[in-house]
Amino acid sequence: MKFLVINGVNLNLTGKREKGVYGSASLDEINEKIAAYCAANGDQADFYQSNIEGELVNKLHEAFLDKAYDGILLNAGAFTHYSYALRDAIAAIDIPVAEVHMSNVHAREEFRHNSVLSEVCKGVVCGFGHGSYIAAIVGLKDVLAK
Ligand code: DQA
Repeated sequence: MKFLVINGVNLNLTGKREKGVYGSASLDEINEKIAAYCAANGDQADFYQSNIEGELVNKLHEAFLDKAYDGILLNAGAFTHYSYALRDAIAAIDIPVAEVHMSNVHAREEFRHNSVLSEVCKGVVCGFGHGSYIAAIVGLKDVLAK
């Protein structure tokens, strides 16, 4: 299966920002781990990051129109908590999307407890560091196999 891993706003600074929350591995290092996990299971992953909301929307549209992916992992960063544009984009496409967060958003500030994306995502994984992405792949594969 082929997965698209999309990281949103501020995720490019992973490994450099708030290391106590997000760890010290860079986004490239995390992506390498995800790619290795996929390869070990006969799957493939492509990776995309942007700090710009509209570019994330465009990437979701592109994935849908090109029919290039079986599933999408989306860590939208803070956009998770207020982007109705991303929510509508997820609702518009017929590819299952997993909402991913490295930190346990429910154990953090109140504003992080609410996601405007969860309702239109297939599932949500948070709190396991880069393992959240791996767990989301496991979940998506299960959904796609049915
Ligand atoms: C995050 C959690 C968000 O609340 C935050 O704004 C992020 C990262 C996570 O991966 O834990 O930037 O999505």
